[in-house]
Amino acid sequence: MTDRYAVIGNPIAHSKSPQIHKMFAEQTGQDISYEAILAPLDGFAATVERLRKEGYKGCNVTVPFKFEAFQLATQPTERAQIMRTVNTLKFFYGGGIFGDNTDSTGLIHDILFNLGFTLNNKRVLLIGAGGAAYGVVLSLVDMDVKLTIVNRSADKAKTLASSLIPNEFTIIGCGFDEIVSQQFDVVINATSAGLTDSELPLPPTLFAPGALAYDMMYGRDTPFMKFAREQGAAVVSDGLGMLVEQAAESFFIWRGVRPETAPVISALRTAK
Ligand code: ATR
Repeated sequence: MTDRYAVIGNPIAHSKSPQIHKMFAEQTGQDISYEAILAPLDGFAATVERLRKEGYKGCNVTVPFKFEAFQLATQPTERAQIMRTVNTLKFFYGGGIFGDNTDSTGLIHDILFNLGFTLNNKRVLLIGAGGAAYGVVLSLVDMDVKLTIVNRSADKAKTLASSLIPNEFTIIGCGFDEIVSQQFDVVINATSAGLTDSELPLPPTLFAPGALAYDMMYGRDTPFMKFAREQGAAVVSDGLGMLVEQAAESFFIWRGVRPETAPVISALRTAK
């Protein structure tokens, strides 16, 4: 019998997840279906309940329901508990709900395995202190990077930095005026500025030789990516690889099989 999965969000029409999971299923020979479901803004829990009653095995959760999904999970992983958000739910026969957040693993895997950059001891700049930044910041600290978090509202960056237990390096939170003369090996844009084509107030000397510029957004060439190219970043990437990697981690949680991500990333890029 085909096992059913879905992604729940609002909006959801743009989601590439059904396409990605279909490719994973074909590649691994798993008999699953995967659809996109639009839940009303006040109807996330009811939608999950309906899926469970209908025999679905699990679901992905996207904006704006990741916090609510965490609250529904009766068995959240440790990283989900720290992030207080969940993007993957797995329904158990006994009624329990396993919850995990695979976004941060997605980012780290993309940087390490697809783009071939190392992170240990590297000067990393995380731009943004909203939901997207919160989702990935712990994994960056775990990679023992020298982390600076910069945000338009500097106080939010400072709050996020001070909430983290530092690795061997101090974690700095600041505003854009404080990074004027600094250089970084990896610069990650976790703001939503790209959605409105807004430019970030970044200094032209930001990128160290050989630097990676990474925008967590996908599907558009953002002003940040254009700026990074102009200012000599060695590699400029959007977040498509992160999307596929987080999906692969979810697939593994559900099916116990880890799909190959490279062919899926390249298929999505050619389909664009
Ligand atoms: P998300 O869940 O996508 O992270 P969010 O929680 O609303 O969304 O956070 C948006 C982030 O993008 C914030 O860090 C925001 O900066 P502020 O905290 O100062 O608002 C940042 N952001 C959005 N538009 C921006 C812009 N035009 N310039 C700089 N930062 C911007």
